[in-house]
Amino acid sequence: MNDIGQLTQIVLPGKVDADGFRLEQGDIPAPGSGQVLVAVEASGISFAEQQMRRGRYYDQPAFPFVPGYDLVGTVLSTGDGVDTAIRGRRVAALTKVGGWATHVVLDADQLIDVPGGVSAVEAETVVVNGITAWQMLHRKANVRAGQTILVHGANGGVGSTLVQLARVAGVRVIGTASARHHDALRALGVTPIDYRTENVPARVRELAPGGVDAVFDHVGGRSVIDSWGLLAKGGTLVSYGTAATKDDTGSKQLPVLKILARMLVWNALPNGRSAYFYNLWAGLRRDKNTFHARLREDLGEVFATMRTGQLTAQIAGVLPFTRVADAMRLAESGTAAGKVVLTP
Ligand SMILES: NC(=O)c1ccc[n+]([C@@H]2O[C@H](COP(=O)([O-])OP(=O)(O)OC[C@H]3O[C@@H](n4cnc5c(N)ncnc54)[C@H](OP(=O)(O)O)[C@@H]3O)[C@@H](O)[C@H]2O)c1
Repeated sequence: MNDIGQLTQIVLPGKVDADGFRLEQGDIPAPGSGQVLVAVEASGISFAEQQMRRGRYYDQPAFPFVPGYDLVGTVLSTGDGVDTAIRGRRVAALTKVGGWATHVVLDADQLIDVPGGVSAVEAETVVVNGITAWQMLHRKANVRAGQTILVHGANGGVGSTLVQLARVAGVRVIGTASARHHDALRALGVTPIDYRTENVPARVRELAPGGVDAVFDHVGGRSVIDSWGLLAKGGTLVSYGTAATKDDTGSKQLPVLKILARMLVWNALPNGRSAYFYNLWAGLRRDKNTFHARLREDLGEVFATMRTGQLTAQIAGVLPFTRVADAMRLAESGTAAGKVVLTP
């Protein structure tokens, strides 16, 4: 391999504050058979890393590890059995962990092409967020033009992508967020509700007296019960997180298991509504090829929407790896609109 410098990565050593991450140097790994080496251009902070530094992510690895849920980069070199034509190409990948590094070895079948005209930072904002938003809207809730939906956390990484994709699909969107984000949300065509000061269920009932066609709930706990109660007949609840219990102690799986138990009961009753817990990783173990083909298809749709200008990257900040503590504080500040992006 050519001399391409050194590896730098951000390590999460244990349960730490935002300034407890460590920058480590090492040798650049070589791709094995079926693999490629990617020079990372952008990764980002997801809610997952906010949970992982508290030891609260559902199935995080043992400490220490390198976080980084997704990345965008350029293929530097290829291992045996991989078409060398992909060298130099810009790609995206969903990694769950490991993305906060200057160089990452990935399986070639994990890569998703980033089209020309979309920058590395723009692309990064929609890898995990775009796939999650697209699949919840179009594979779970199957939204249609003319419907009304409620999106919690409409200013967040997933939320700000989801509301835009919904508007493109002709859907009316009510979104919860702190008041400081309301002007930006209105500009995206969203009717905002302040979840910190308003009674969210009461306000949604005023805005949609007949109920809403879908609710996207990442808050968990009491919020899921309220969300279920706001559905119109035929409506769909998509629960996909437990943000409300981020700072709790005790089992990190229990908040999700409680939601699943409720859903079993709700779905068994003849009420004309349905509830799902969306899991981005569902199906990976059953059929890896189908799983990755679906990611390519869905992220491809999101990138295509971005290229038309109907989906704008929501970038809360772009900070270098050396400022990971500031980046983490920004992501957790309650002031961020969109995705906090990290660059090597
Ligand atoms: N199930 C899956 O497969 C899957 C995949 C991807 C993401 N997710 C989930 O998606 C959610 C959003 O992720 P993200 O990366 O987009 O996060 P993010 O960018 O950090 O955004 C988080 C959003 O949640 C709001 N929020 C934080 N704590 C809250 C609370 N206690 N009650 C109500 N709202 C709260 C924030 O509002 P403020 O700005 O006002 O604090 C912000 O709008 C997370 O819960 C994550 O676990 C799930």
